[in-house]
Amino acid sequence: MGYSLMIHGGAGAIGAPERFAPSLRAIIETGADMLTKGASALDAVTECVRLLEDDPLFNAGRGSVLNADGAVYCDASVMDGRGLSAGAVAGVRRVRNPVLLARLVMERTPHVFLIGEGAERFGRAQGVVIEEDAYFLTPERQAQLARAKARSATTLDHGATEDGKLGTVGAVARDSAGNLAAATSTGGLVNQMFGRIGDSPVIGAGVFADNDSCAISCTGIGEQFMRTTLARIASVFVETQGMAATDAATAAIAYLVRKVKGSGGLIIVDRNGGCGAAYSTPGMLRASFENGKISVAAG
Ligand code: GLY
Repeated sequence: MGYSLMIHGGAGAIGAPERFAPSLRAIIETGADMLTKGASALDAVTECVRLLEDDPLFNAGRGSVLNADGAVYCDASVMDGRGLSAGAVAGVRRVRNPVLLARLVMERTPHVFLIGEGAERFGRAQGVVIEEDAYFLTPERQAQLARAKARSATTLDHGATEDGKLGTVGAVARDSAGNLAAATSTGGLVNQMFGRIGDSPVIGAGVFADNDSCAISCTGIGEQFMRTTLARIASVFVETQGMAATDAATAAIAYLVRKVKGSGGLIIVDRNGGCGAAYSTPGMLRASFENGKISVAAG
């Protein structure tokens, strides 16, 4: 059985999707190369999300959107399908790579979820890279917040009235040993309330991985994914109904729409290495590596 990898860079009505393609391609190639050389699914998804966080095009890490106070707060999670180990952080500032901090929570604490100041203190003690505020405050994000405030919009990454792309990045993989892993990272919603947390760091909502079913990473309006525990629902479709990745992704998004008229998408790698994606938005930025073949898509 093979190894596979999928990444996403958010869903929505994506303006000029071609501008994201070079980054998506470079990052999926890096992850594919790792898996081909025998890396674990956990290492591959962590590295892909780290690269997505470092890329200012995507709403996570460096490219995180600004909240209503004009500040960046990041959320991230990682899950290892080998025993349902998981780590997550929420509302962290100045941590260059929130996904690496989530992984440290998983591997070096007895806990699953650290927030805010406690998460940052733990990160500093572990030696994670800390950046100045200026690292995150890109001119694009400042202009985007000003536009959102002018509209009084407390909405999506770019919001349907701008380029319409929802933020969040993620990766899911199956390695050659049959282990699954998932990771998700976000800066949340543009102009969101101080203290607001979405689905990305919530296990079973924005992320899930279980070797018995699949690995999932979601993007979309976090409240809707939390209320439907969408990642976990997708895994149940695989585990109890025997669905493959594509069918489970389609069924999960149908559930999201039916239950809460939800807006977003998800990527899945199933226990057999099958890849699937589905979304209720006009498009989703994503790339896959399946059966040795790479493909990049925005629609
Ligand atoms: N899906 C990310 C968020 O709602 O924050």
